[in-house]
Amino acid sequence: MLDSINALRAEILSSQPATSEQLEEFRLLYLSKKGKISSLFEAFKQVPAAQKKEIGGQLNALKTLATERFENFQHSLSLHETSVVADDLTKPSHPFYSGSRHPISLVRKEICDIFSRIGFTIYEGPEIEDDWHNFTGLNFPLNHPARDMQDTFFITSGPDVLLRTHTSSVQVRAMEKQKPPIRNIFPGRVFRNEAISARAHCIFHQVEGLYIDHNVSFADLKQTLLFFAKEMFGESTQIRLRPSFFPFTEPSAELDVSCSICGGKGCNVCKHTGYLEILGCGMVDPNVLDACGIDSKEYTGFAFGMGIERTAMLKYQVNDLRLYFENDIRFLHQFISA
Ligand code: PHE
Repeated sequence: MLDSINALRAEILSSQPATSEQLEEFRLLYLSKKGKISSLFEAFKQVPAAQKKEIGGQLNALKTLATERFENFQHSLSLHETSVVADDLTKPSHPFYSGSRHPISLVRKEICDIFSRIGFTIYEGPEIEDDWHNFTGLNFPLNHPARDMQDTFFITSGPDVLLRTHTSSVQVRAMEKQKPPIRNIFPGRVFRNEAISARAHCIFHQVEGLYIDHNVSFADLKQTLLFFAKEMFGESTQIRLRPSFFPFTEPSAELDVSCSICGGKGCNVCKHTGYLEILGCGMVDPNVLDACGIDSKEYTGFAFGMGIERTAMLKYQVNDLRLYFENDIRFLHQFISA
């Protein structure tokens, strides 16, 4: 019996399975129920009681040896197999998804690019403002209902610190700092205390514009906006100006562009009017020029302002404003090639 154990030990030690098939043969030959070690255990039953202890110990040691070798071979074979996979340089790599620019960034850039082609430069200012730059400097009288148009977020320390409700606050800063001719655009984030819905949000983005020089007229404003509308929505776009009201412009207007979806014929997006409202504008009120240190007898100017979300909604036919803020990859992925 001891001789058989020794012979089997030598056999196991010399066996070197190199493939998974050979490893399986090794298992069947030595470790399975019908394998050589099992039959030795079978023969062990006949061993005289006096030798049971010694032979039993040897037999157990043989089984442990075979099991360990099996596991070691199994481990090194699995390592070998994965390294073979990694070495195959012709295999396609894992798919790599590149990100996309956010539609708000795309449209902001497009608006800024269009105006920079006709000489406007970007001017930026703070999101936390004081009453003067957001309201009073822009001809909003104290306690005037016009302030209600804006639903302002005030910051705890008092009525004088607030989140800007429009980037017109930066127009005031630009007029205070610069001498005419002034030709700026003001992109930025603005805040209004409004319930969030598909059509309104408490945070959104604007691009406003300001041009001040000698003899700037409403005709200049109209031509500038026509140029913008054609660049942004296509050469065949038509515009329409409707009288409106803003405290800081006189006269004031709202600009509609012909609906780029139905070409002006009338559809759901333009609510069958053929036109879409995209911005507010007007001639800078002389009170505003004077308040900001620019002589209103010498200079005139125009200003305009538009929401980037709204412009992007029209351009990409997005029907819910909240999509811009949710960072849903499925939404953002659609702008990869935009
Ligand atoms: N500030 C206005 C708004 O936020 C837009 C505007 C800018 C209107 C300049 C006229 C002139 O709605």
